[in-house]
Amino acid sequence: MKFLNKTFLVTGATSGMGKAIAQAFAREGANLILSGRNEKAGADLVNEIGSNAFFLKGDVSNQSYNQELVDLTIKKFGQLDGISANAGILGLGSITSLKTEDWLQTIDVNLNSVFYLLKAALPELEKRPSASVTINSSIAAFKTFPNHPAYCASKAGLVALSKQAAVDYGPSVRINCICPGPVDTPLIHDSAAAFPNPEKAVEEAGKNTLIQRLGTPQDIANLVLFLASDEASWITGSVYTIDGGVMAKR
Ligand SMILES: NC(=O)c1ccc[n+]([C@@H]2O[C@H](COP(=O)([O-])OP(=O)(O)OC[C@H]3O[C@@H](n4cnc5c(N)ncnc54)[C@H](O)[C@@H]3O)[C@@H](O)[C@H]2O)c1
Repeated sequence: MKFLNKTFLVTGATSGMGKAIAQAFAREGANLILSGRNEKAGADLVNEIGSNAFFLKGDVSNQSYNQELVDLTIKKFGQLDGISANAGILGLGSITSLKTEDWLQTIDVNLNSVFYLLKAALPELEKRPSASVTINSSIAAFKTFPNHPAYCASKAGLVALSKQAAVDYGPSVRINCICPGPVDTPLIHDSAAAFPNPEKAVEEAGKNTLIQRLGTPQDIANLVLFLASDEASWITGSVYTIDGGVMAKR
C-alpha cells in the first residue's frame, strides 16, 4: 500500500497502459481520478476499483475539461499528489495526405492536452510534499515511423515539455517522461495499419526487441509506479525509454 492517502489523476485510463496504471495505483491504495472518453469502460473500471475512484468523461484536447478534472480531484479528495498522462492518438498519414485538421487534432490531443493539464494541476501539485508527474511520450519522439509525422512531432514535443516543466517546477514537483516501445494495446494494432502488412508489423515489432516480445501494459505500469513513488525522489527531468531494448539497436 505504497500510495495510501495519496491521490493520482490518470488520463487515458479506460484502455491499454492507462488502465493498467490505474489498476496498479489502486492496488497500492491510491485515490484515483480517471479520465477517458468511454463512459461504459470508465464506469466498469470504477466498479472494479471501488469507492476511492471517480471517472470523468471528456476530451483532453478541451482546456476546460482539464480544469474540471483537477477541480473534481480537489472536491473529492482535497489534494492532488500526482499525474500519469497517457491519452494519445495516432493521426496517421503522410504530410501531403494528412488533413490539416487531423494534424492539429493530433497535436491537440497528444501535446496541448498535457500543457492544459499541467497548467490546471501544477498549483495543486506544488502544495503537496512529494508530487510527481509522469508523461507518456514514445520512442516515436526519437525515431521515425511511416505515415506518423503528427504522432512523432507531438511525442517529441512532450519530451521537451516535460524537461522544461521539471526545470521550472522543481524541486517541489518531479516531472519525468517515459518513451515506450511497442506495447500490446489497441493503439499498436491501429498504428500497424500504416504498414503494408499490419499483422506481420505487430508481430515483428515484438520480435525486433532485444527481449523478443511486445511490452505489456503492466511493464509500463511498473515504471510509472516506481517514478511516482518516494523511491524515485531523486529522479526528475528524466526521459526513460522502456522498449525491450529496441532503441539500443539503432
Ligand atoms: N502501444 C504502444 O505501442 C505505444 C508506444 C509508445 C507510446 N504509446 C503511448 O501510450 C499512451 C497510451 O496508449 P495505449 O497504447 O495504451 O493505447 P490505447 O488506445 O489503449 O489508449 C489511449 C487512451 O487515450 C484516450 N484518448 C485518446 N484520445 C483522447 C481524447 N481526445 N480525450 C481523452 N482521452 C483520449 C483513449 O480513450 C484511450 O484510453 C498513448 O499516449 C500512446 O501514444 C503507446
